[in-house]
Amino acid sequence: MKRKLILPVLGLMLLLLWGCAGQTADAGDTEDTEEALIVVGVCQVGAESDWRVANSESIKAVFTEENGYQLLFEDAKQKQENQISAIRKFIQQKVDYIVLMPISETGWDSVLQEARDAGIPVILVDRMVDVADESLYTAHVGSDFEAEAALAVDWMEETYGDDPVNIVHLLGTVGSTAQIGRTEVLEAAVAAHDGWTILTQLEGDFTQAKAYEVMCGYLSKGSPDIHVVYCENDNEAYGAIEALEEYGYTCGEGGVAVISFDATGTCLTLCLEGKIALAVECNPLLGELVEEVIQTLEAGDTPAKHTYVGETCFTRGDLTEGFIAERGY
Ligand code: AHR
Repeated sequence: MKRKLILPVLGLMLLLLWGCAGQTADAGDTEDTEEALIVVGVCQVGAESDWRVANSESIKAVFTEENGYQLLFEDAKQKQENQISAIRKFIQQKVDYIVLMPISETGWDSVLQEARDAGIPVILVDRMVDVADESLYTAHVGSDFEAEAALAVDWMEETYGDDPVNIVHLLGTVGSTAQIGRTEVLEAAVAAHDGWTILTQLEGDFTQAKAYEVMCGYLSKGSPDIHVVYCENDNEAYGAIEALEEYGYTCGEGGVAVISFDATGTCLTLCLEGKIALAVECNPLLGELVEEVIQTLEAGDTPAKHTYVGETCFTRGDLTEGFIAERGY
């Protein structure tokens, strides 16, 4: 069933050595020295955020030839059609495993069925898919986005209670699990607090440039009284802060409270400086967990269907420069 890529380098070296010593080697001798690589096709969303770059690096660091893998890595440039084409290419290449970071939840049934028909296990990483048959994917490793959002809402409750809170909400890529989870929990909390209002919901697509653009567009129409900007990732927070400051708002104590998800290095530095009020962690270092799933399958065992990484949140008082420097992303 498995399709191994054969690395004949060691065998070739031995043949040469034996040749020098006037000996001959047969196929059996060469077989003993063959090294088999597990071929993993990774279909990444893109490089839209600092989180995504750290996630790709974590995957690339684990799936190396030294560790016994051949990595085929496709960057889908934030387009689902590119992800679907990449999966079809991996099927043609007869990879051993497909690792998919799905850009959005819907639209996967057919291509995952094709992978299943080809006998290739699909491991979902980061986000989820919404498919009629859950057996179309073997396992999922990622974040609990609703639990992350609950940390943000808990902080808002502690900070504002039932006081009036005017919120600008910057959504991530619409239809992605990260956007759906972070949005649903905020909307439920707003519905449960009479004083909390979402002034506007803007689509930031998880990028700094888009968040800056939509935020400027909103602020150019007036000067609303904003208490909180709820950004569904760090890069949106950077774009929002840039726009807010351009329009004369202060971010931080006595000004707008910016909430951000991911808590990558620059975000934590901005939090330590007081410009970001709350940084909710989303851990991108998933490479080793994905490898554990593959090794479990290689051993003939069944991995957990879902593995969630533990995550926390940070305010200014939780941080030091040393902690940020050592964090790794
Ligand atoms: O799905 C994880 C989200 O996607 C991260 O919060 C964001 O930065 C990324 O682009």
